Amino acid sequence: MNIIEGKKISFRYPQGRRQALREVSLTVQEGEFIALLGHNGCGKSTLARHINGILPLQEGSLLVAGMDACGKVDVWKLRRKVGMVFQNPDNQFVSSVVEDDVAFGLENYQVSRDVIPGKVSEALKQVGMEGFEKRMVHSLSGGQKQRAALAGVLALDPDIFIFDEATAMLDPEGRAEVLDQIEALHGRGRTILMITHYVEEAVRADRVILMKDGEAIAAGPPREVLSQGDLLAQTGLLPPQPARVWMELKEQGLVPEDPEDRCPLTEEELAEKLCRSRSGA
Ligand SMILES: Nc1ncnc2c1ncn2[C@@H]1O[C@H](COP(=O)(O)OP(=O)(O)O)[C@@H](O)[C@H]1O
Ligand SMILES: [Mg+2]
Repeated sequence: MNIIEGKKISFRYPQGRRQALREVSLTVQEGEFIALLGHNGCGKSTLARHINGILPLQEGSLLVAGMDACGKVDVWKLRRKVGMVFQNPDNQFVSSVVEDDVAFGLENYQVSRDVIPGKVSEALKQVGMEGFEKRMVHSLSGGQKQRAALAGVLALDPDIFIFDEATAMLDPEGRAEVLDQIEALHGRGRTILMITHYVEEAVRADRVILMKDGEAIAAGPPREVLSQGDLLAQTGLLPPQPARVWMELKEQGLVPEDPEDRCPLTEEELAEKLCRSRSGA
């Protein structure tokens, strides 16, 4: 089942000099993990803001979790279906204590007070932050802050999770923490739209949608999209490093032709390929 169905979405900000989105069409299936990849300013956040109803649709059509996002949409209801985790861990907290913050969305949606503490604890447990209820938000690491923000989203049990560059301001450890959470969510069957400008992160997705200047210029499995150096170069991106190493070796004739020719995307895949080519298999 398609949980997101967008057709020819175009958008221009009131003060915008050019269109931020140009006829973007996308479909996302329930349970899919999509990486929305592209350089700064290509329209990723603008598209995300349409999906959760922050921005009104100007042109095109959009269905999200069975709701029609065109015309008169119940924005409040739509936002409950689409949870978002943003880039800056310090900008998304409304309370100084973790449990109050995680509870905030539930209180906003007038969930019964009796069940809130249970939901808060459960959500913190899901992100591996059991026992952090009383901690001060400012005492958390970047990765923990993003996990706490995710707990706030999880508590509302949305149908779609959007991570808008949620790793971009984190150190490598924090980044890994958040990516692990995203993969765990995906493993539990949730639908994920992960916005990123890091090709290495997009490797993990089921499907990559590549954006450039407000347009979705390619979509497909990571191995298909991320191994096309020329395509990525148009958007100012490079294939993941292991893929580049492999292409370079191939170009120099240092590895035998591979009949299946699966371009490696991770260091592990590259190592495996190199071992196989050395052993002559
Ligand atoms: N609030 C705004 N007002 C006017 N223009 C904006 C606004 N937000 C973004 N833009 C412009 O819209 C385009 C797409 O931006 P954005 O969706 O934020 O890209 P991305 O998330 O891929 O970095 C850019 O040209 C950006 O400058
Ligand atoms: Mg953005």
